[in-house]
Amino acid sequence: MSELNFIPLMVPDIQQHDIDAVVAVLQSGMLIQGAMVEEFENNISKYLGVRHAIAVSSGTASLHLALIALGIGRGDEVIVPAFSYIATANVVELVGAKPIFVDIDINTFNINKNLIEQAITNKTKAIIPVHEFGLACDIREICELAEKYKLKVIEDAACAFGATENGKFTGTFGNAGSFSFHPRKAITSGEGGMLVTNDDELARKLRILRNHGIEMQDAKMEFVEAGFNYRLTDFQAALVNSQLERLEPNLNYKEKLANIYFEELSQTNRIILPKVPQNKRHSWQSFHLVLDTIINRDEFIDNLRELGIGTNYGAQCIPAMIYYKNKYHYQSEEEFPNAFEAYKCGIAIPLYSRLKKEQVQFISKTINWLGK
Ligand SMILES: Cc1ncc(COP(=O)(O)O)c(C=O)c1O
Repeated sequence: MSELNFIPLMVPDIQQHDIDAVVAVLQSGMLIQGAMVEEFENNISKYLGVRHAIAVSSGTASLHLALIALGIGRGDEVIVPAFSYIATANVVELVGAKPIFVDIDINTFNINKNLIEQAITNKTKAIIPVHEFGLACDIREICELAEKYKLKVIEDAACAFGATENGKFTGTFGNAGSFSFHPRKAITSGEGGMLVTNDDELARKLRILRNHGIEMQDAKMEFVEAGFNYRLTDFQAALVNSQLERLEPNLNYKEKLANIYFEELSQTNRIILPKVPQNKRHSWQSFHLVLDTIINRDEFIDNLRELGIGTNYGAQCIPAMIYYKNKYHYQSEEEFPNAFEAYKCGIAIPLYSRLKKEQVQFISKTINWLGK
């Protein structure tokens, strides 16, 4: 298989004018704390319709900062889906709190809202619902439940920039919304993240904590918190900001490609396609299938690679990962059966704006043939 013919799982859409925007920042000498981060933040808050956007160095930094700014720490419990990228739970551990895992709906890969209430205890302080693979979870109902129990909601929208529920953007429902601009996301700064919120005081805290605990008071730099350096650089901001104008066309194009998958992939007992509820706009960070247990998923991935198609598993059943399993002794297969199945039998297939329709048809045919 020549490298030229290989279809990778993901190719970021970086164009010459994105590169030019980075070069301009490099030539300006203002590599950090220049104008670009602010411009990017302003563009994001305008696009999403939120009061505050705070750029940070990654999606993980963003979740971590939100937990700290909301005062969540030792002795607290935070509800997270059992199936997500591991960072969603790691940040809870890192502030000294305990992640309480809740199983997912196998059709959408999102947290099962009906299982959340029974996981709430008097130690629960927050929920981190994830919009997995770019599909909004049942965020409105989750926020209503959180309000009933006075819990904070930090939306992990790392994969879901541009996704909506009933026309409202993911990330804008909870106390804070967190995004990632990792190269697999819709727009990328390499590493990078963003927190959004409509809460002025929370935004102030987040800005202080992002930057060594510094606050300007009477034009003087004061150190008012023990903060982090979680800043995004200006050249990263320029790179991602320059891609914003292509976001909507790219999301629309990915929707078309996803529809080709829905038409071409055989919906059989062996290959289960994802479901998208009518009221949600998927941002299609990943197109994720579940294979029947008869199929050896890892061999399937190897076979696809040999046939020129890059795929991988989509996310982790987090309580089954060594750290969590050893610490909390979960029996994930029994306790979180859907998360376990999605992890053991799941596979993410290529879907990005540089992918051609013919390639999607080729991938579909190959998967149908291998899965027969
Ligand atoms: C659901 C979810 N949360 C958090 C993250 C972490 O983001 P980052 O890689 O930017 O730290 C990711 C990364 O892919 C993710 O998918």
